[in-house]
Amino acid sequence: MKNMKDNPQLKPTTPDRSYLRKFIEKFKTHQNGKERKILIERETLPYLIILSLLNAFLLHDFKSGISSFFGSFIVIFLLLIFFYRDLKRYKPAYLKKKKMMALLASLIVFTLIISRGFEHIFLVFSKGLGVESIVMHTFGIPLALGPVIVVLIFDFHTAITFSLILSLMAGIWLKTSLIPLYVFIGCLIGAFSLLKCKKRTDIINAGIYIALANIFSSSAILLIMGFFDLHSLYFAVVFSVINGFTVSALCFLCLPAIERLFNVTTPVSLVELLDIDHPLMKQLSVEAPGTYHHSMIVGSLAEAASEVVGVNPLIAKVASYYHDIGKIRMPEYFVENQTGCISKHEKLNPHLSSMIIIAHVKDGVELAEEFNLPEIVKDVIQQHHGTTLVTYFYQKALKEMETPPSEQDYRYPGPKPQTKLAALIMLADAVEAASRTLDDPTPARISGLVDKIIKNIFLDGQLDECEITLKDLSEIKKKFEYILAGIFHRRISYPEPAKEKIV
Ligand SMILES: [Fe+2]
Ligand SMILES: [Fe+2]
Repeated sequence: MKNMKDNPQLKPTTPDRSYLRKFIEKFKTHQNGKERKILIERETLPYLIILSLLNAFLLHDFKSGISSFFGSFIVIFLLLIFFYRDLKRYKPAYLKKKKMMALLASLIVFTLIISRGFEHIFLVFSKGLGVESIVMHTFGIPLALGPVIVVLIFDFHTAITFSLILSLMAGIWLKTSLIPLYVFIGCLIGAFSLLKCKKRTDIINAGIYIALANIFSSSAILLIMGFFDLHSLYFAVVFSVINGFTVSALCFLCLPAIERLFNVTTPVSLVELLDIDHPLMKQLSVEAPGTYHHSMIVGSLAEAASEVVGVNPLIAKVASYYHDIGKIRMPEYFVENQTGCISKHEKLNPHLSSMIIIAHVKDGVELAEEFNLPEIVKDVIQQHHGTTLVTYFYQKALKEMETPPSEQDYRYPGPKPQTKLAALIMLADAVEAASRTLDDPTPARISGLVDKIIKNIFLDGQLDECEITLKDLSEIKKKFEYILAGIFHRRISYPEPAKEKIV
């Protein structure tokens, strides 16, 4: 005991319990319900009120009184609060980007303006056709336009919530109890059909699906209302089909303008980048055919592994195609484009060689800016080598130079991959480049090589700044092995059967 008192390190100290106090205070606050009471932030409230007023104005029937306007305003305000809370709970990333919120608000207003315009046209059209029912022309209103654009730019969940509030707003506007049902079904089918949109023609297909869904739901509404006869059915079908095709046509027309105005990327614009007639792809295939071929295989590897790690396969493929476009500027300095026996690097010192190799990242980013490639592709170009070492020239410098070279001079400037997508392309790129050196590619050798490459990148700390997990790496490895085994299987030429000897 005496020793303990003398030795300050052994003296009993009062434990620090400040963290416990903080926890109890936080718990009390939560129990009092102070945190849960905030339904909507003070700074968001004015925007919601303005948007509700604008929408109530757009839906207002000027023959009705001011009380009808305020009634609409209250319902729309409640619907928008629901939409906001839903985004806050399930898609908080959108709330952080003012641009995305402005786009969502604009899409509600834009859909209502377009719909009011078409409602007026269809009313005149139906009167011209001698349609007596005042409901029939409403089957043609292209309200599904909004959700179709939302699913292409945002996601399916947001498109469903958008569809719900839009169809309830349609109920306020058209004052028909069954119309929200019709609008909601059309919107849902439109969003569903574009869930895995990969090409422009998918938008036309979405229009056809919307038209078919509309035919069924408008017929059902006629049956419920007791107006079902051949004459009514004929006009319901006509307006339902017009609705589907109007949505497709408007989506085609508006999407490029929305993309440009808000600087957003949709699968449709990404598909255009896959076209081999794109000027950058054309230039790459002519001036750097080896790099072009390499990019195609990286695309296959990344696309195959993307779905298992939750990356959009289309984005993975497009980003792979463009990841090395910087090599266009000096293609003959990259091994995959060298045709002769003499390497262009033979007469250069290792540091200069490494500088030429490293420059393809900067050149790639410049070309991406020049050709207006999406932000997501530009980021992959910048990050696909992270801060890795140009090992070949570093080793060469170690052997040739008298003073030991600085490792930092032979490393790419980075940054390291910041997203799963960039990490996936870094791995696919390294695996493809290494696989070219395999002489006898048996499945066991392919597996060993893929394992080694992924481990090296991981141990070098290149995957430290993105959210990729060890489970993801294991899934990626399996997919890479499968794809490479398929590629090598095709490359191996089997010996021709021995011809029978002619005696
Ligand atoms: Fe590269
Ligand atoms: Fe590459």
